[in-house]
Parts: sequence; structure tokens; C-alpha cells
Amino acid sequence: MSSIREAFGLGVDLFVFDSEEELKKLAENAPGSRVFCRLAVENDGADWPLSRKFGTTVAHAKDLMLQAAELGLDPYGLSFHVGSQQTSTAAHEAAIAKVAMLFTDLSEAGIELKMLNLGGGFPVRYRDDIPEIDQFGLAIGRAMTEHFGNALPQMLIEPGRFMVAEAGVVSTEVVLISRRGGKESDPRWVYLDIGRYGGLAETEGEAIRYRFRTPHDGLPTGDTVVAGPSCDGVDIMYEKNRVQLPHALTSGDRIELLTTGAYVTTYCSTGFNGFAPLGEHYI
Ligand SMILES: Cc1ncc(COP(=O)(O)O)c(C=O)c1O
Repeated sequence: MSSIREAFGLGVDLFVFDSEEELKKLAENAPGSRVFCRLAVENDGADWPLSRKFGTTVAHAKDLMLQAAELGLDPYGLSFHVGSQQTSTAAHEAAIAKVAMLFTDLSEAGIELKMLNLGGGFPVRYRDDIPEIDQFGLAIGRAMTEHFGNALPQMLIEPGRFMVAEAGVVSTEVVLISRRGGKESDPRWVYLDIGRYGGLAETEGEAIRYRFRTPHDGLPTGDTVVAGPSCDGVDIMYEKNRVQLPHALTSGDRIELLTTGAYVTTYCSTGFNGFAPLGEHYI
């Protein structure tokens, strides 16, 4: 509540919501503001799905938008998020079809929405190839025209990862290389001085699979499990999706993790297990 009041006081008059309670808070603390409701949409194809925690059904969103008008707010638009690192254009197409129906329903109920917020999700290249950004632009443009014709609403996007991921490189030190079991045939584990708690939170479930650059690139490689430095047993980045790392790698070598400008430094713990937070250097 205090955050809504503060934002409104500073001149913010456009808010997203997806529940009755939030709507009432907005009516009370940001009276007359423009509001848009977030719909839950399929996140299939997203390496980092966002569909469970936010967004509501079409029927509920319709009720909420009608209530918004009754509460003196301006029912302004709708939004969705197709999930982060979304690798398929089909998710945007399906989401646009879904929201378009609600635009029509609400128009019939006397509410003319003006804006569609298409969220983020635009992917970057980690280990696997992904469609070019133009393909997302084309698919979204085509779907918007198909469902809205010439009456296009104002469109917003909120790209996060796509804007900043390429700008970051993590430089990390190899702290230990171990054949767990002692035999040459046992899996090789490489422990780095960065892990799940040092900023690589998106390696949870091995969802985001970063690319590695080593001082020995080009030399023969082998399957490697990659883990972080902390005492925590879940601090393993890649065990199922093993990384091809050079046999020549030794402790003390520095490895670079590429495309780490998004959701890395900001996810870093302040000092779990005594490891200092990731230092940031802007070049
Ligand atoms: C509401 C909202 N918009 C935009 C973004 C940015 O998403 P992405 O980094 O996938 O582009 C997020 C990320 O969590 C989000 O929650």
C-alpha cells in the first residue's frame, strides 16, 4: 500500500493488477489511475516460465475490469508475459488471440480498452540456437493485425533479458577439479568460485544454460559437471546438461561465463557462506 501511495504521489498513474484486493488498494491509494489486468497465458517454450505466480483467467479479468470502472479507476488495458527466454513465437500468437477476445467482450460491455502490454520474454543465445528477434517482431505484428485489424491498441513491451544479457561476462576462477570416486572413468567435477548463490540463480533446474569460454578453448574436451563453491548440495549448476570443458583445465584457471548481463549480479546473495558478493565493473 505504501509503495502504491508513494508511486502515485510521484506522478505514476498506470498500474498493473490481477486480483480484487490489489484493485481495491489501487482505488484507495491511486484514485482515478489507469489500470491494466494481467492475464495468465501459456508459457510453453519458455526456459524460465513465469505463468504460475501472476495473471488471472479471462473471465476473472473481465469481472475485475468492470469493477475497476465502478471503483473510479480507468480500465485501460491488458497485459501478459509469455515466460522469460521464450524460444517460440507461437506463445505470443496464442496470447494475443486470448487477449483480443477479452478486448471484444469488454467493448460489448461498454469498456473500450486502449492498451496491450505484451511483456518481455524475448530470448538471447545461450548454449542453444534461438529464433532471431525479427521473427518475434513479425509474428507479433501479424497476430496483432489478424486479431485487431486496423483498430490496433497502443502496444507496450517490457524486454529485460534481451536488452542486457549480451552486455555481461562473469569472470570466475576454477577452485577445484575432482574425479568424484577417484577413477578416470568417474565423472569430472569442476568447482567454480561462483554458483547458485553468487548470481547464477537461473541455473535452478538447469533452466538457463550459459556458454563458457576458457583459456584452453580449441583443445580436446570432456563431459563435466559444474558446481559452485558453497556448502549447499543444490549449488550445482549443470549435472544433467554437462558442459564440454577442456581436459587441460586446471585449478586457478579463469573461465568466462558469457551472456550473463541479465538476472545475475542482481540475484547475488550478500555473502552466503562468507563469499563476497559478485563485484561489478562497467567498461
Ligand atoms: C512483468 C515483467 N515484465 C517484463 C519482464 C522482463 O522479462 P524478460 O527478461 O523475459 O524480457 C519480467 C521479468 O520477470 C516481468 O516480470
